[in-house]
Order: sequence, then structure tokens, then C-alpha cells
Amino acid sequence: MDYFTTTAGAGRLASSCIIVGVYDRAKLGIAAEEIDTATGGAIAEMIREGDVSTHLGHCAVLQNPDGVKAKRVVLVGLGNPANFGVRQYRKAVAAAINAVRHTKIKDIANYLALENVDGTSPYYLARYAVETIGNVLYKFDEMKSGRKKRGMPLNKIGIALGKRGDAKQVALGCQHADAIVTGMSLAKDLGNLPPNVCTPSYLARTAQQLAKKHRNLETRVLNEAEIKRLGMLSFLSVTNGTSEPAKLIVMKYKGTSNQKPAVLVGKGITFDAGGISLKPGPGMDEMKYDMCGAASVLATIAIVAQLKLPINLNVVIPTCENLPGSTATRPGDIVKSMSGQTIEILNTDAEGRLILCDALTYARRFKPETIIDVATLTGACVIALGHHRTAIMSNDDSLSAELNADGIAADDRGWPMPMADEYENELKSNFADFANIGGREGGAITAACFLGKFTKGLRWAHLDIAGTAWRSGGRKGGTGRPVPMLTEFMLRRARALP
Ligand code: BES
Ligand code: MN
Ligand code: ZN
Repeated sequence: MDYFTTTAGAGRLASSCIIVGVYDRAKLGIAAEEIDTATGGAIAEMIREGDVSTHLGHCAVLQNPDGVKAKRVVLVGLGNPANFGVRQYRKAVAAAINAVRHTKIKDIANYLALENVDGTSPYYLARYAVETIGNVLYKFDEMKSGRKKRGMPLNKIGIALGKRGDAKQVALGCQHADAIVTGMSLAKDLGNLPPNVCTPSYLARTAQQLAKKHRNLETRVLNEAEIKRLGMLSFLSVTNGTSEPAKLIVMKYKGTSNQKPAVLVGKGITFDAGGISLKPGPGMDEMKYDMCGAASVLATIAIVAQLKLPINLNVVIPTCENLPGSTATRPGDIVKSMSGQTIEILNTDAEGRLILCDALTYARRFKPETIIDVATLTGACVIALGHHRTAIMSNDDSLSAELNADGIAADDRGWPMPMADEYENELKSNFADFANIGGREGGAITAACFLGKFTKGLRWAHLDIAGTAWRSGGRKGGTGRPVPMLTEFMLRRARALP
């Protein structure tokens, strides 16, 4: 994708298509005002006649309007100007692109970026627009046979500038968003691929290909014998029921010297049947998404490498399947984790924490400045926060606040949940150091407390993305979250934000 910025008025840009907006009560957006003047009042007239709706996201496409250099003008409703915030802005951009997505338009200029959107800046308005367009144009038809539908051939996105001085930060927003879109598409693809294709070995190959593509990025893949030698018996207990080999993927990006790395750990269960504590049948296919934590950390390190950020970042991905079988782990089994702590496995479906705890212990060798694990960890998280917010839990309040703020800035929001010893007591076991489950209530928090037993002394946060990583129903598919939040964290760390 190519990007350009323009200070040309909306009527004066020679382009295939421009996007302008109109608010309720016939209040014209900045660019719509210009088009209205250029056309001798055509837009005001259309609104008067009821030919266009100002309802948020309603669109009308004008062809070759007189006095306007652009071939097409997408007029998009912006709703109530008092409510026009980031979400409304993104909804309007998405609607405008949807209105022309079946055309052969190759370039498009977004004039909505001129609007005043509370609490944001030209950099973010450019970034949100490019990210939104990437989301709208994403499709996954790799597994369909026959002739593939060709997508919109859009290859050039323009962002209108309020003033020439904004050009640099707007171009930066486009550049960052371009990397974010590439990363999110990778994360969505990996989530959407079926579990017979996206296996632990497939994730490992993907990580190796990323290392080939980017300098400064290296990947090492450990096999089961090597994982065993490290003493990761908690991790390996999860893979006992399957013949598909487990892998530990370790990636290192070095963008600067003399800095402790940030470490991201991603849950890579490529299919979670629950093991002997078998899940119920309906909707079980969705457990192919149980590797979305892994996908999001792979995507984030790919973005950091693409942008060549001056930071150090390591990624650790424990990946395997969780299936029942005659050799599968039983409820009641006790295993010894790499940390030396013993775990009574009371429910084999609480497997994410069993693989993550060993990965977190392994990551200590990197002396991380900050360590963040990302996991579709609990159904309880979906009950607590629904599908809108990622749960943020941390042993460090400043880190939790940072991630929360990063989620807001990136428009990929989270919400902090508490972690305290009142919850931790639920993990008591009569036979081992502790059990792998607590009660049903507060399940997202007890899961975090379990992980907390392996992150003592580390600056650590846990992101539960069980509700945010994918959508169910008619629009079933990976969302690419929380890649924007994680990328924001890295951009800020790199001081790469304007
Ligand atoms: N991968 C699931 C969590 C999950 C469930 C994500 C539903 C999205 C939707 C995880 O491995 C799991 O099964 N967790 C159990 C834990 C319980 C046994 C303590 C759960 O949430 O039911
Ligand atoms: Mn499970
Ligand atoms: Zn799981």
C-alpha cells in the first residue's frame, strides 16, 4: 500500500475517490463544506431533499460532481457532532470503504481526518483510518476451492492535512498503521486457519519465515526432547494426549544494545478439546482460536521488526494441542513445573496456565525489563468483560495502568482486574504445592494468580483475550487483537510516537 498526504482542498484533489462527511442537522464537515461550495450548494440541497442521510455510517456516492476534480465523492453520515469520537470516526471510515469496496477504485483520499475528534491527533487519525481500511479489506479465503473473489485493488491511501506542519506525523501514522495491518492480518490468518493446518509445527515454521524476512530477528524452535531437558513437565503434560509434536518457539529481536528486553509470551494451544476433562461439543471448533495469544505476539514482533524499532524484544511461545487419548494427562495427576513447584491437575481443560507457567519460568533467563503474557485463558473472562475489553492483570500497578492507556491510545481497549491473595487461596491443594484450578467464581483472576506464582520478582502483566481475540456467529473470525495495544506499548517504549 502507498500513502500520501495532501493539503489540497477537497474540491481540488484530482483523485479517484474522496471521503467527506456530514453531521446531523445538515452541519457539513470541513471537506463537505468545500465540496458544497465547489458544486454551488449541491450537498446542502441533497440533504434538504432527503437524498442523503446524516445518520452515522450511512453513505451516498456522487459520481463526477460538477466543479470537483475527484471522480467520486463518498458522502458519509457522521451523526451528532457532539458525539463524534474515535469510534464514530472509525465507523464512518469503515462505512465509506464498504460503500466502494466492490468497485475497482485504486486510490482514495480520506478527508474525515480534518474533523475535530476529541482527545486525538492527526497522527492517530491517520493511523486509525489506515488500520480501519485494512480491517475492512481483510478477507480469508485460503481454504475455499474454485476461483477466488478478487478484492478491491486499492493500493494508495491519501490523508488530508489540516495544516502542512502535520505532514510528518500523519506520514508516520500511515507507516505505523501499515505495519499494524500486516501484523493483524497475520494474526487473523493464523487464528482462522483450521487446526489440522495451523499446528504447532506450522506456527514454528511461520516464526522461522519471519526471521528469514527480517534482519535483526532470529527464531529458535525447541522440540519435545529439548523441552523435557529444560524440565518443562507442566507444559509437556498438556501434549500427552496427542501425536502432534509440541514446540517451544523462541524469538529475539535486537534493535538496540544495552537494554533489557521486553518479553512477550503467547499461549499457543492450536486446538483445545479440553483433554480428559472434555469440553462439550457445540462450538468446540472455535477452540482452534486457542492459539491467538501466540499469533498476536508473533505479529507484534513482526511489526517491531518491520518498523526497526530501537528496542529489544523477545517472544516465547509454548505450543501444542490439548486432546484426550489413552496417554493423556488425568485429572488428579501431579506434575513438576520447570520452576520446581508441583501442580495438581484437577481439570485438564485448564491447560493454558500449565504451558504458560513453564514458558514464563524459561523467560527469566532473558532478565526481562517487562514481561507480558497473552492468552485466551478463561471463559470466565468472557463472562466478566464480554467481547469488548481485554482483561489486564498485573503484579505492578504502573504496568497495568500503562497497558490500559496503550489500549485507549491504540483504540484496542483493555480493563484492569484485581489480583490479590484472597483469590490465590482458592488454588490450595492437599497433595501438591497448589492446584491448577480454583472455584468457578472469579475464574479469570484465579487463573492470573496461578501464573503469578511463576512471575515473582518480575515486572509482569497478563492479558486475557478470551473475549476479544475472535468473533463468533455470522462474522466468525479472528480479530487481530490485542496487536494494536501491544504495538502501542512497543512504540511508546521505543519513543517512536509523536
Ligand atoms: N481456552 C479455554 C478458555 C476459553 C473458553 C476461551 C471459552 C474462550 C472461550 C481454556 O483453556 C479453558 O478451557 N479454560 C477453562 C478453565 C476452567 C477449567 C478452570 C474455562 O474457562 O472453562
Ligand atoms: Mn482449556
Ligand atoms: Zn485453552
